[in-house]
Parts: sequence; structure tokens; C-alpha cells
Amino acid sequence: MINLGVNIDHIATLRNARGDFFPSILHFASIVESSGGDFITIHLREDRRHIKDDDLTLLRENITTFLNLEMACNSDVLGKALTACPHKVTLVPERREEVTTEGGLDLKNNLNKIKDFTAALKEKGIIVSLFIEADQDLIEKTLEIGADEVEIHTGSYSLKTGEPERTLILKKISDFTDIAVRSGIKVCAGHGLNYHNVGRVCGISGISELNIGYSIIARSLEVGLANAVNEMRANIDKYELLNCVVKR
Ligand code: PXP
Repeated sequence: MINLGVNIDHIATLRNARGDFFPSILHFASIVESSGGDFITIHLREDRRHIKDDDLTLLRENITTFLNLEMACNSDVLGKALTACPHKVTLVPERREEVTTEGGLDLKNNLNKIKDFTAALKEKGIIVSLFIEADQDLIEKTLEIGADEVEIHTGSYSLKTGEPERTLILKKISDFTDIAVRSGIKVCAGHGLNYHNVGRVCGISGISELNIGYSIIARSLEVGLANAVNEMRANIDKYELLNCVVKR
């Protein structure tokens, strides 16, 4: 079964717009957990534009599922992660001026730094995942770094509208996943996934988890968060089942 992680950063963005205490990140995290979300994902950015240090502590201490913290290789944020001890850290690249994470990690040029961050996190028993492009050359680097998992950046898939281009990217993701799983690396995926494009990613054997934020939070404005998470869960289940039937 593919697990669904719901990224709730956008709820913090709304709260911060008025500098108030609501909407409560913990309240909505519990709605995610009781509506088919398997875990909670947050990104503690260097500029703290949405999630704040206190949110990390509050969620870590109170959610009942699993906390996936996205963070850049920044020593201040590392300190917070080592103190809060989320269940998993996904290391991501970060640029201050970006609207959202724009690409995968450059493992080749930052190998030692990522290796050091991974070692420090793993020493605390935290699972480490690397957010990367589906580039097979990065599998060996992931093993060298000692990360447990990777999250494939699906942003370029989500931006393509032409069928031949989409098929090509999905094939690349599928081939990457196949080799990564056979190398002992757990494979997750995320970024830009929505109710329409998620199905074909669910059709890729070996993908264990999806991290989805924007489309679910946007849909929640229409139907409420519980229904929005439930609909995504149902979509994932449907496409996974279809995939199993087709493969038989
Ligand atoms: N995975 C990672 C590593 C991300 O940085 C993000 C965006 O915060 C997501 C998944 C979720 O992307 P989206 O909000 O487009 O669903």
C-alpha cells in the first residue's frame, strides 16, 4: 500500500498571515490523521516563512502517526531537528527566493555535507531521505551517503502536459525506482501531485510513499480537509488496485 503524507505548511502560511493562533496546525494535523493521511509532512525553512520552531515541537509531541520533516542542509535547522527528533528527515535543496522547492539535491557537489548531515540525523535514530531527481547516477551516491530513502521530485512530471513527454518521464521514474528498490533504498515521491496526475505515479511499482500538499489544501477550501484527504486516499487506493489488476 502506498502511504500518503500530507504537507500542511500552507495551513501555517494562512495562520501567519494574521500572526494569530488559528488555524491550528495541530488541529488540522489530527484531521489529516483521522481522514486517511498516513503521516504529516512539514518543511522548516531557513526563513521560517510558514512552519515555526514551536510547530515542530508541538507536532512531534502530539501527533499520533509519523512526522516527516523537510529541511535544507542548514546547521541551525539541524540543531532543531536533532532536538525534536522527528521520525524522518527529508533533506531538500533550498533557495530563499524560491516559492517552493524547485529541484532535487545536487548530491555530486554537496556529497560530504549531505553525508555529515545524514550521519548526525541517523545517530539520533532519525530515518533520512534525500529529495532527488530520478537520475540513476544518484543511486550510488545515495548509498555512499548512507541515506535510507529517496523522494523522487515529481515536479517536472507534473508540469508536462504533452503525453509523449509525460510517458518518457514516468518511464525514467519507473526505471530509477526499480534499481533503487533493488539496491535496498525505499522510494517515495512528491511535488506537484494532484487529484488528476497522481494515478500514473501510483502505477509505478516500488513507490512506497507520496508527499502531497498544495492540491489537498486547495481542495479543502471547497470540501473541507477531511474530505480532501479522503478523496486523495481513495484516488491512490483506486489506482494502486488498478495497477495490481493490470499486472496480473
Ligand atoms: N515533497 C517535497 C520534498 C516538497 O518540498 C514539497 C513541497 O513542500 C512537497 C513534497 C509537496 O509538494 P506539493 O505542495 O506541490 O504537493
